[in-house]
Amino acid sequence: MTPILSVRSLAKTFVDGEHTRQVLQDVSLDVAAGEVLALMGPSGSGKSTLLNLLAGLLRPDSGSIALTLTEGPVLLTGLSDRELTRLRRRRIGYVFQFFNLIPTLTVRENVLLPLELNGLGHLEAEALQRLSALGLDDRLDDFPAHLSGGERQRTAIARAMAHRPDLVLADEPTGNLDGRTAEQVARMLIGEVKTLSSALVMATHSDTIASQADRVLRLDERVDGARP
Ligand SMILES: Nc1ncnc2c1ncn2[C@@H]1O[C@H](COP(=O)(O)OP(=O)(O)OP(=O)(O)O)[C@@H](O)[C@H]1O
Ligand SMILES: [Mg+2]
Repeated sequence: MTPILSVRSLAKTFVDGEHTRQVLQDVSLDVAAGEVLALMGPSGSGKSTLLNLLAGLLRPDSGSIALTLTEGPVLLTGLSDRELTRLRRRRIGYVFQFFNLIPTLTVRENVLLPLELNGLGHLEAEALQRLSALGLDDRLDDFPAHLSGGERQRTAIARAMAHRPDLVLADEPTGNLDGRTAEQVARMLIGEVKTLSSALVMATHSDTIASQADRVLRLDERVDGARP
């Protein structure tokens, strides 16, 4: 099967004053439709960096990232910033490590925003149903500041899935939930990805959550140059 996401020989170095830090080196991966890849590795090993590269929020030093969409293949690493923004808005759902909910919008408005931006109003009932399945029925009119960390996280998951993205990127999507809720939420996220035939790349520190994935990619901590 043709993978939705194909990554070849990705490298990323951060330069910070006189320190250079090679965070990712020669990373290659494929994720097919309906497939879940868990990213594991110690803190600082580059999980969030890799997800930001896959989202087109960061540019790699070298290597390629390609998405195969229904209308054909797109080389992310060959797009302009503007094209990347457009592609991300429509095709990618991102559950950020620190949620990135819009503070001036309610839970409902945060989740419906991707539909508004994409002219996908017909998916509204489905998006609200997802919020309900995530146990947020009675928080729809609340602002993010009034939610617990776990409630924010579940809102971020509902927002990432609202527009039925081809590629879902999730950065420790259950990191703020208790063990049982974490397992339930991960199961729901994975179930949705399979139903929608999206591809999911999910960073996690939890072996239990990773065991729900189809495959695991481990990033090792790799540091060139001095640590502060
Ligand atoms: N913009 C940046 N400038 C300089 N260094 C950065 C930048 N972003 C990340 N790094 C460094 O890259 C390394 C990897 O960071 P990253 O956030 O990808 O790790 P992670 O695996 O997601 O860790 P965690 O499990 O703690 O979330 C870290 O050493 C970090 O300090
Ligand atoms: Mg991280």
